Amino acid sequence: MGSQIWLRGLCFWVCIFTCSFVSVSSQTVAGDGSVEGTVFIDGKTSIGKIDEDFICATLDWWPPEKCDYGTCSWDHASLINLDLSNNILLNAIKAFSPLKIRLGGSLQDKVIYDTDDNKEPCKQFVKNTTEMFGFTQGCLPMHRWDELNAFFKKSGAKIIFGLNALPGRSIHSDGSATGAWNYTNAKSFISYTVKKNYSIHGWELGNELSGKGVGARIAANQYAADTISLYKIVQHIYNETETKPLIIAPGGLFDANWFKEFIDKTGNSVDVITHHIYNLGPGSDEHLVEKILNPSYLDGEANTFRGLQNILKSSATSATAWVGEAGGAYNSGRNHVSNAFVYMMLHRYLDQLGMASAYDTKTYCRQSLIGGNYGLLNTTTFVPNPDYYSAILWNRLMGSNVISTYFTGTKKIRAYALCAKESVALFNRTLHHQKKHNRWKFLKRGIQGSESNTREDYHLTAKDGNLQIQTMLLNGNILTPIMVAPFSVVFAHFPYVVPACS
Ligand SMILES: *[C@@H]1O[C@H](CO)[C@@H](O)[C@H](O)[C@H]1NC(C)=O
Ligand SMILES: *[C@@H]1O[C@H](CO)[C@@H](O)[C@H](O)[C@H]1NC(C)=O
Ligand SMILES: *[C@@H]1O[C@H](CO)[C@@H](O)[C@H](O)[C@H]1NC(C)=O
Ligand SMILES: *[C@@H]1O[C@H](CO)[C@@H](O)[C@H](O)[C@H]1NC(C)=O
Ligand SMILES: *[C@@H]1O[C@H](CO)[C@@H](O)[C@H](O)[C@H]1NC(C)=O
Ligand SMILES: *[C@@H]1O[C@H](CO)[C@@H](O)[C@H](O)[C@H]1NC(C)=O
Repeated sequence: MGSQIWLRGLCFWVCIFTCSFVSVSSQTVAGDGSVEGTVFIDGKTSIGKIDEDFICATLDWWPPEKCDYGTCSWDHASLINLDLSNNILLNAIKAFSPLKIRLGGSLQDKVIYDTDDNKEPCKQFVKNTTEMFGFTQGCLPMHRWDELNAFFKKSGAKIIFGLNALPGRSIHSDGSATGAWNYTNAKSFISYTVKKNYSIHGWELGNELSGKGVGARIAANQYAADTISLYKIVQHIYNETETKPLIIAPGGLFDANWFKEFIDKTGNSVDVITHHIYNLGPGSDEHLVEKILNPSYLDGEANTFRGLQNILKSSATSATAWVGEAGGAYNSGRNHVSNAFVYMMLHRYLDQLGMASAYDTKTYCRQSLIGGNYGLLNTTTFVPNPDYYSAILWNRLMGSNVISTYFTGTKKIRAYALCAKESVALFNRTLHHQKKHNRWKFLKRGIQGSESNTREDYHLTAKDGNLQIQTMLLNGNILTPIMVAPFSVVFAHFPYVVPACS
């Protein structure tokens, strides 16, 4: 058994990360009741290993005409029209070095690539309510693909491209899509990309066509056959390249039977199994904030992670799991009346990052980098939302090895631990940058002490939040109460080597 850390506070919950990082985030507005709990960290072995670039965000295809519940939240945030000359955007991505960016979403299965083989005129998406997802098919001109790649290169992003998986299939009125994938257009698009020497980290097949599907659905055995086709195409086109891009699929909601069959039948033709998370229901839900604040909702999310982890463990595949897209509430999230939603998202997002890592998920793609009501960046101003800083904090502080962590006391404190990244110095710069941001206050408290018993806490709290910190060292052991303010996040760094991190 590892060390014990005392957490006290008003009423809250927490995320704890690392040993050397412990992060704590608090949730409920306080009454007077102070709650006490204990985090148990078992530093003997690691229970998971996340990618160094675990943080990922998405860019989508939705045109400005995409509206939900009377709000049109996409503006010019589509891959087709995003302002690539915006410096805030560039720097926001650069800050991660690298950020994984997954290009995709519902309309990806309606995109034609305007390569030489395309005989149709290259037209944009047009609103048409009788069409699946409310739009006609759209087309990606190659000059736009060139611009996007120039931008990705400059920003140092690692790109995952979601391919259209519907060509060649018949879509029936019950939503089932039958027939094999016609990959002619995808193949020439990949060839074009390779010929131009554009760097693609992974090619992903399809969006939300697994299980019951969202707009349409494809049977698992057909999807496995199509994924094997993609694998062969990529092997062929990248025949002169030593490191091949990852083959990723199916990018849909988790469905245990479907995923099991798919994984068994794709064999080693797939590197990454992606699943999407939208378990908060529609963005129109009036009770969204209460849901996010309800620990049992948060705990319910563990079932998906556990289910997929079990399937991967029990099958012969070497594939790993990613969250390919997670927006919480579907239909573009929810337009916040107050800031409440944005604040609450912060806790949910960090909780999910912690939970995903605890189930050995290698990468977590947040819907979205920009666009909808759930962007890390504001759609019109490009200014970072609070979750952007959560992502940065994670990126700068958290290493790869995940440590078993258990919290007792209250369900409203969430705790996770990972080994720390070595380069915490870089992070200092970010902290200073944060101070300019008016919604959040960042505080760093260094504690005097020898090398082995110093702890550093990073408290991330709303500006008007009530913040109290107390620290205590006992005989050089980490037995230190951390005061956690309501609705706040604490990352605590223990420069203390445990076996899982050595
Ligand atoms: C919308 O799509 C339907 C079916 O694809 C088509 O018949 C109709 O003409 C389209 N409407 C417009 C306004 O383009
Ligand atoms: C596949 O799609 C291409 C257009 O991209 C078309 O020319 C070709 O005929 C299709 N192949 C089959 C077998 O339908
Ligand atoms: C292709 O890109 C890689 C890095 O992305 C670079 O090292 C290489 O020189 C490029 N090759 C050509 C022919 O431009
Ligand atoms: C790669 O494929 C191309 C086109 O099929 C072929 O011309 C080339 O010789 C191949 N290279 C290798 C190393 O196999
Ligand atoms: C983006 O910023 C503008 C201007 O500050 C604000 O009016 C808008 O509500 C913000 N959008 C979101 C989705 O937060
Ligand atoms: C953090 O950055 C500030 C401003 O750049 C600097 O004054 C301070 O010494 C730095 N602290 C550490 C621990 O590097």
